[in-house]
Amino acid sequence: MPGEAPPGAEPVRLAPVAPAISTSSLTKRYGDRLALDGLDLEVPRGLVFGFLGPNGAGKTTAVKLLLGLARPTGGEGRVLGAPLGDRPIRSKVGYLPELFRYQGWLSAREALVLHCQLAGLPQHQVRDEVERGLEVVGLEGRGDDQVATFSKGMQQRLGLAVALLGTPELVILDEPTSALDPVGRHDVREIIRKLRADGVTVFLNSHFLSEVELVCDRVALVDRGKVVAQGGLAELLEGGGPRVRCTGLTVSALDRLGELRTDGDWVWVEGLDSSRTPDLVEALVGVGARVHQVEEGRRSLEERFLQLLERP
Ligand SMILES: Nc1ncnc2c1ncn2[C@@H]1O[C@H](COP(=O)(O)OP(=O)(O)OP(=O)(O)O)[C@@H](O)[C@H]1O
Ligand SMILES: [Mg+2]
Repeated sequence: MPGEAPPGAEPVRLAPVAPAISTSSLTKRYGDRLALDGLDLEVPRGLVFGFLGPNGAGKTTAVKLLLGLARPTGGEGRVLGAPLGDRPIRSKVGYLPELFRYQGWLSAREALVLHCQLAGLPQHQVRDEVERGLEVVGLEGRGDDQVATFSKGMQQRLGLAVALLGTPELVILDEPTSALDPVGRHDVREIIRKLRADGVTVFLNSHFLSEVELVCDRVALVDRGKVVAQGGLAELLEGGGPRVRCTGLTVSALDRLGELRTDGDWVWVEGLDSSRTPDLVEALVGVGARVHQVEEGRRSLEERFLQLLERP
């Protein structure tokens, strides 16, 4: 039978693979400010993991601790099986910082060569790596231009190329699309999908929730230094109930329908089972609404995000 071990052969034992990232009660205090308050995180290998949260929530702090760029004041963590701050493991991790500036007098190609050297890549690989990097991020043809002449979005693309140099097993991207136009954001999503297809784990900090929704397998939502929700995207978004796009709803009609929630022309009842979609449509038509569209509910990540943060 195919796949069956021949009689007498030793069974193959695979060593358990450590998660890409795991942390336990990871804490960072700056003076009396608690930037990260006991982070428990587990990021399995090969997934795109979204780390989300409002400004000041502690996302960048967490990334700095994971990379050994700052020391925790409590708790512990492991990256690719090694304790935080382990130097040899750094060559397996690609990183796009949130705020960065490359030497403006270098050309994009020179900046990439420099980072290949800093990463200790063998000299004979450098040329191919640099050309591949420029191509992946859409900067081919601009390699000889000085970094100082690049637009913000082009600098961010260059930063992404730096993060992808070599063959990282884990890529940590802190707001990779903050300076990018919609085409650039689309390109980055494609790059992330390609990384996942190649088995690379991607840890992504982002504010663009609609984007995270398109590309992440799992997410953790952090607020004031603590994780408030963590799980598979589908599991986090389920239970939104059916939603109806309609016009002609008056305030008094909305009052009569009681628990109805609205967002622009969209209306829904929190937690309504999809078997009751016809009842919802009938009730809306009954109070004079004109129904244009009905969608089987899945709430948006933004809605869920605001709900979990208990902000209106
Ligand atoms: N070096 C530092 N010294 C003092 N406080 C700091 C330092 N770095 C971060 N903090 C504080 O820690 C908290 C978390 O900051 P952090 O940069 O991790 O947030 P963030 O979630 O990345 O926010 P953003 O979405 O704005 O990038 C903030 O209150 C911030 O002021
Ligand atoms: Mg940040």
